[in-house]
Amino acid sequence: MAAGVRVPEPQVLVCLWALLTRWVVAGLEAAVIGEVQENVTLLCGNISGPRGLVTWYRNDSEPVFLVSSNSSLPSAQPRFCLVNASSLHIEALSLQDEGNYTCWEVLNETRWFQVWLQVARGPYEVEVNISSTGRLPNGTLYAAKGSQVDFSCSSSSWPPPRVEWWFQAPDSSPEPFGNNMTASCFTLLLMSQNLQGNYTCLATNMLSGKHRKVTTELLVYSPPPLAPECSAEMSPGLLTLKLTCRWAGGYPDPEFLWTEEPAGVVVRTSKLGVEMLNQSQLSDGKKFKCVGRHIVGPELGASCVVQIRSPSVLSEPMKTCFVGSNVTLTCQVSGASPPAQILWLRNLTQPKTVIQPSSHYLITRSGQSSTLTIRNCSQDLDEGYYVCRAENPIGVREVDIWLSVKEPLNIGGIVGTVVSLLLLGLAILSGLMLYYSPMFCWKVGNTFRRQDMGDVMVLVDSEEEEVEEEEDAAEEEEEEASDREEFPREITKYGHIHRVTALVNGNVDQMGNGLQALQDDSSEQQSDITQEDRPV
Ligand SMILES: *[C@@H]1O[C@H](CO)[C@@H](O)[C@H](O)[C@H]1NC(C)=O
Ligand SMILES: *[C@@H]1O[C@H](CO)[C@@H](O)[C@H](O)[C@H]1NC(C)=O
Ligand SMILES: *[C@@H]1O[C@H](CO)[C@@H](O)[C@H](O)[C@H]1NC(C)=O
Ligand SMILES: *[C@@H]1O[C@H](CO)[C@@H](O)[C@H](O)[C@H]1NC(C)=O
Ligand SMILES: *[C@@H]1O[C@H](CO)[C@@H](O)[C@H](O)[C@H]1NC(C)=O
Ligand SMILES: *[C@@H]1O[C@H](CO)[C@@H](O)[C@H](O)[C@H]1NC(C)=O
Ligand SMILES: *[C@@H]1O[C@H](CO)[C@@H](O)[C@H](O)[C@H]1NC(C)=O
Ligand SMILES: *[C@@H]1O[C@H](CO)[C@@H](O)[C@H](O)[C@H]1NC(C)=O
Ligand SMILES: *[C@@H]1O[C@H](CO)[C@@H](O)[C@H](O)[C@H]1NC(C)=O
Ligand SMILES: *[C@@H]1O[C@H](CO)[C@@H](O)[C@H](O)[C@H]1NC(C)=O
Ligand SMILES: *[C@@H]1O[C@H](CO)[C@@H](O)[C@H](O)[C@H]1NC(C)=O
Ligand SMILES: *[C@@H]1O[C@H](CO)[C@@H](O)[C@H](O)[C@H]1NC(C)=O
Repeated sequence: MAAGVRVPEPQVLVCLWALLTRWVVAGLEAAVIGEVQENVTLLCGNISGPRGLVTWYRNDSEPVFLVSSNSSLPSAQPRFCLVNASSLHIEALSLQDEGNYTCWEVLNETRWFQVWLQVARGPYEVEVNISSTGRLPNGTLYAAKGSQVDFSCSSSSWPPPRVEWWFQAPDSSPEPFGNNMTASCFTLLLMSQNLQGNYTCLATNMLSGKHRKVTTELLVYSPPPLAPECSAEMSPGLLTLKLTCRWAGGYPDPEFLWTEEPAGVVVRTSKLGVEMLNQSQLSDGKKFKCVGRHIVGPELGASCVVQIRSPSVLSEPMKTCFVGSNVTLTCQVSGASPPAQILWLRNLTQPKTVIQPSSHYLITRSGQSSTLTIRNCSQDLDEGYYVCRAENPIGVREVDIWLSVKEPLNIGGIVGTVVSLLLLGLAILSGLMLYYSPMFCWKVGNTFRRQDMGDVMVLVDSEEEEVEEEEDAAEEEEEEASDREEFPREITKYGHIHRVTALVNGNVDQMGNGLQALQDDSSEQQSDITQEDRPV
C-alpha cells in the first residue's frame, strides 16, 4: 500500500506510535460511516479557527502515512486528499478502507484525533422467489387454496442485511409477517383466501440504514367446492330454451362450455354459463353438456348434462258432475324437461279458448300436475270437452276430458227417510226396554257415558235415588201407612219415565247429528249425491 510512497523518518513514526497509543486511551474518537463507491470526509477534530500542520495516518498493525498539509510530502494515493487544510477526503470508498484513522496536528502544541471509518455496502438487488402454483399472463402469481407456498428472499449487502417480510391484504395496512424474523425463508403450508395480497421483502443494511424492497402480488385461487349443476328453463315466450350451468363458489369465476351431446358440437364458451337456444336447435331427448373450467380446478374440467324432453300428459278420459255441484278434473304431466306450462282449454270454438281462473273455474297447480275445479255445474254451460295442454319448448301434448253433467238422483232422500224411520223404531224400542228393565238402562247408560256424560249422570243418579226412595217409602208405609206417600210415588214414577224419555230423545238427537256428520264425511268424496239430500 505504501509502496512507491515516501514515508516520514522512522524516529518520527516510533514517537508517533507511542503518542497514538496514549491518546486512544483518552478516548477521543469519532465514528464515520461511508458507503462503497462514494466519497467521505473525515474531520480532524471538532475545532474551528486556524489549523496547524496536519498529517493523516492509518492505524493498522503499523501507522501508515496517507496525506499531509506539508506540501513537500505527497499523498499516498490520489484517492486521498486534504480539504479545508485539515480534513481527509477519500474518494470512491472500498471495503478495504474500513479502519481507524488518526490525524496529528502540530500548532503551539501537538494534538491527536482518531476517526473510526466503517464502510457499508448495499443492499443491492433483492431476489424474491415464491414457489406458487402458476403465473398469470400479466405476470401476477397465483397459488391454489390449500397448497403450500415457499417464500425466500436474498440480498447482497455488507454487513449482511436484515431481511423482513411484510404482508398487505387488500384494503388493510401492511403488517410484519412472522415475528420480526431475520430469516429470509418461510413456508405457508395451507394457503387460504385471507393470505391473498402483496408480499414485500424488505432488506435493510443495519450499518447505513439503507433498505430495498420488492413487492410481489400473490392471488389465492380456489375452484368451486361442488360439482356444476345444469338446468334447462323455459323462457317466458315459450319459444326459446335457457340452459344454465351453475358452478359457484370458486375464485376467480370459471368458464363454461356448452356442447351438444353426443356429437360434442360446441354451442359456445362463456363466462356466465347461460345459453339461449331457439326451437330449431331443440329435439326431444337431446342432451346438452356443460363443462366448467377453473384455473386451479380439475384439468379436464367438471361437467354436468341436461336432457330435454317434451311432456307426456295423463288424465281420466271422462268425468261426471251433478247439476249445481262441483267437479274437479286432474291432469298429470310427466317427463317434461324443462317443466311444462299447463293450460286448461275448451274446444267450443276454434281455436280453443284458454280457461281463465274465475269464480266458476278454480285452477290449482302443484308441481307437474294441475287441477281444474268447476263450481256449480250447469248442463248447458259446462258439459263438453275439456283440454289439458302441457307445453315446453320441445313439444306440446294435449289430452281431452269429457265432462257430462247430470240431474242428480234423489237417492239421498230415500236413504234419509229410511234412516229416520229406523231411528224412530229404535227410539220406541229403547224407551220400552228402559221402562221395563232399569238394569238394562244402567248398562246402556254405561255404554252411552262416553258420548254424553252429563245426561247419563243425571239418569244414573236419579235411578239410584229412585230405588232408595222406594225402599224408604216401603218402610214408612209399613210404619205409618199414610195415604200421603202414594202421591209422591206416582210423581217420581212419572218423573222417571219423563227423564228416560228425555234421555232417549237426547240420544236420538245425538245419533241424528252423528249420522249427519257421517254424511258430511261422505259428501266430500261423493259430493254430488249427499249434498243434494241435505234439505231433506
Ligand atoms: C467524489 O469526489 C470527486 C472529486 O472530488 C468527484 O468528482 C466525484 O463526483 C465525487 N463522487 C461522489 C459520488 O460524490
Ligand atoms: C463539534 O463542535 C460543535 C460546536 O462547537 C458541537 O456542538 C459538537 O457537539 C461537536 N461535535 C463533536 C463530535 O465533538
Ligand atoms: C493501532 O494499531 C495497533 C496495532 O494493530 C493497535 O494495537 C491499536 O489499538 C490501534 N490503535 C487504534 C487507535 O486503533
Ligand atoms: C515538510 O517536509 C519536509 C520533508 O520531509 C521537511 O523537510 C520540512 O521541514 C517539512 N515542513 C514542515 C513545516 O514541517
Ligand atoms: C470547508 O469548510 C467550509 C467552511 O467551514 C465548509 O463550508 C465546507 O463544506 C468545507 N469543505 C469540506 C470539503 O469539508
Ligand atoms: C477501531 O477502533 C475501535 C476502538 O476504538 C475498535 O473497536 C475497532 O475494531 C477498530 N477498527 C479496526 C478496523 O481495527
Ligand atoms: C498558539 O500561538 C498563537 C501565536 O503564535 C497564540 O495566539 C495562541 O493563543 C496559541 N495557542 C495556544 C493554545 O496556546
Ligand atoms: C393480473 O391479472 C389479475 C387477474 O386478471 C389481476 O387480478 C391482477 O391485478 C393483474 N395484475 C397486474 C399487475 O395487472
Ligand atoms: C424488529 O426488531 C427490531 C429490533 O430488534 C426493531 O427495531 C424493529 O422495529 C422490529 N421490526 C418490527 C417490524 O417489529
Ligand atoms: C398490490 O399492490 C399493487 C400496487 O400497489 C396494487 O395495485 C394491488 O391492488 C395490491 N394488491 C393487493 C392484493 O393488495
Ligand atoms: C263448491 O266449491 C265452493 C268453493 O270451493 C264451495 O264454497 C261450495 O260449497 C262447493 N259446492 C258444493 C255443492 O260442494
Ligand atoms: C272438441 O274435441 C273433441 C275431441 O277431440 C271433438 O270430438 C269435438 O268435435 C271438438 N269440438 C269442437 C267444437 O271442436
